[in-house]
Amino acid sequence: MKKILMLIAILVTSLGAAAEELMSPNRQFVLNTYCKDGIPYYTLSYKGRVVIHQSRLGMDIKNERGMKDNMELQSVERQSKDETWNTVWGEQSAVRNNYNEMLVHFYQPSSTRQLDVRFRLFDDGLGFRYEFPEQQTLRKFVLKNELTEFNLGFDYTAFALPGDYDTQEFTYTTARLSQLRTEFTKQSLAHKGYEGKAEGDLVVQTPLMLKGNGLYINIHEAALVDYACMELDLDDRNLVLTSNLVPDKQGDKGYLLPFCTSPWRTVIVSDDARDILASRLILNLNEPCKIADTSWIKPMKFVGVWWEMFNGSGMSWSYADAPFAKPGITDYTKLKPHGHHAANTANVKRYIDFAAKHGIEGVLVEGWNEGWEDWEAYWRNRQFRFDRAYPDFDVDGLHKYAASKGVQLVMHHETSANAADYDVQLDRALQFMVDNGYHAVKTGYCGQVIPRSENHSSQWMVNHYLHVAERAADYKVMVDSHEAVRPTGLCRTWPNWLAQESARGTEFEAMGGNPVDHTTILPFTRLMGGPMDYTPGIFQTDLSYYNGGNHNKARTTLCRQLALYLTMYSPMQMVADVPESYERFADAFEFIKQVPVDWDHSQYLEAEPGDYITVARCAKHTGDWYVGSTVDENGHRSVLKLNFLDPHTQYIATVYADAKDANWDTNPQAYVIKKGVVDAKSVVDITSASGGGFAISIVKASKADVKGMKALPRRIN
Ligand code: NOJ
Ligand code: CA
Repeated sequence: MKKILMLIAILVTSLGAAAEELMSPNRQFVLNTYCKDGIPYYTLSYKGRVVIHQSRLGMDIKNERGMKDNMELQSVERQSKDETWNTVWGEQSAVRNNYNEMLVHFYQPSSTRQLDVRFRLFDDGLGFRYEFPEQQTLRKFVLKNELTEFNLGFDYTAFALPGDYDTQEFTYTTARLSQLRTEFTKQSLAHKGYEGKAEGDLVVQTPLMLKGNGLYINIHEAALVDYACMELDLDDRNLVLTSNLVPDKQGDKGYLLPFCTSPWRTVIVSDDARDILASRLILNLNEPCKIADTSWIKPMKFVGVWWEMFNGSGMSWSYADAPFAKPGITDYTKLKPHGHHAANTANVKRYIDFAAKHGIEGVLVEGWNEGWEDWEAYWRNRQFRFDRAYPDFDVDGLHKYAASKGVQLVMHHETSANAADYDVQLDRALQFMVDNGYHAVKTGYCGQVIPRSENHSSQWMVNHYLHVAERAADYKVMVDSHEAVRPTGLCRTWPNWLAQESARGTEFEAMGGNPVDHTTILPFTRLMGGPMDYTPGIFQTDLSYYNGGNHNKARTTLCRQLALYLTMYSPMQMVADVPESYERFADAFEFIKQVPVDWDHSQYLEAEPGDYITVARCAKHTGDWYVGSTVDENGHRSVLKLNFLDPHTQYIATVYADAKDANWDTNPQAYVIKKGVVDAKSVVDITSASGGGFAISIVKASKADVKGMKALPRRIN
């Protein structure tokens, strides 16, 4: 139920050339917008300091006069809003949406065209978007360039990904803006952001996290709908970022039809890094939920026939050896199986049994369907079938078996980025899921996109991903998309789109590794737009254990893997390791079994991008608390007051912490578990190892529960 407290004050003023000012409700942010010499600009300040210096606004249109010069600020309309809305799932159950708004009408007399910019100032930052009103002189157009600038005027430290029109699966580079070019070159981070650009152009992706001058700034976008993804050109001499929209392969950046809008450009600012993680500005800028009945959307944990394809134990997605699926071979029963196909009925049953035994809701099965033998999808019109299983995967039998154990199977649709074919098969694929008891699908877009005219993040593909989520909602199916464009808060509008990958996830620990500080950066970057299916829970971090020739090592301690269930928020959270690993470390596995995936409140206790993040979350409906902390290669000592607990309640806390001699590289599986009584006055003092972390469950207890139990010691390790 929505509690709306709306205060609307609409004021239309005729202005001429003067600047128009807007203030945030707490008066800490001030925005100004004006035209100077016919060019529209804006500026933003926070607590009296300029954060965005004079920055250009405007649009360039293909083969036509752009809306970028000879403009006048014609009039403004103002309004305010203060409402609280309820999430379907999330880091908190109620979100306050409180802003002051100014809709600015810019006019170009020479073309008689109007371009509107809607600014919203919240207590944690700015959102603004372009609006193209219906007008005689602008019926339809092709976007050549969006000219939005973010003139930073300071050499911040950036946590940056190199520009790329297809992927975000890079490691973050932490460097001053002026040093990024050198750092990218050193790491050979060549990228396609250069395409169609002058040589030497430097491109970064959003969400972009910046730190320096006592400030933390996050730049991203909200509600990316029917528009291309925004990357940013970096002028590293003048420290100005400019919108670089992902084009299609003809170089066009968008086909627009007024009335239409751009996504919101977002600038979240604070002098405390914790506020960046706690910001709900991006969700607030998205439309309310469009699904009338959301009762079928259920956050969940799931195990998967998955990690055994990565960890070196030799299992595979395919059923037979390549090159089998030559064009023309359509009958998979005629193929000779190679014997290491993971998605076979017996193996899937093993996972179902494991999930049932430990109360885990779902089992993802990858490699169940035809098409994995030779994956040259880009050369084929059709690679994967989403309604045809391999001969050793008993769809009906497994449906019944899973149902009898109270477990749900999670569908997998690897599309090999053939979005055109996925569109064709989509309804049949979703109906197949419904008929066979599947309510969630993990989609994948590995490889080059078909239509061949598109990039993963261009307008057409942006529309495709959203279309899949919308269509899935019609079938009451939840979606977890991999390799799609990074999220922009659309999960508020379509809460069945529970999670996305869209960054370098755990799988890379088996393919060269993620930097030790990776999980201390992701929440400040990728997760700003929405939950990530990071696939945590790897207990057997050294993969040479499997004798399969994979000598990679996940750069984490075992305890940090527990913490990621808190620090990497997702309502669809994988329990990613193989069952044997959990059986070997059964006491630590207890935490994963217990930890919820849906929350009433979240409180960031400590945070510094690239160094550490500690968050406490209160489970939905139960009032129990869970705390997680992830730290970089330097380790970190956390002295935490548990004053977020209810002052009138006693709790039993179980702490899972790195042992004194733990270290991600040399001793990752060394941990201690301490249990005891705590209350709101308790303090815990925990040292996390290099690449380590900790997890705590804090469960409400009755007098009888705590009888004879000692208080939790302050010093844990
Ligand atoms: C990449 C995905 O991120 C991974 O989880 C999946 O197993 C493979 N693609 C195969 O679809
Ligand atoms: Ca660091």
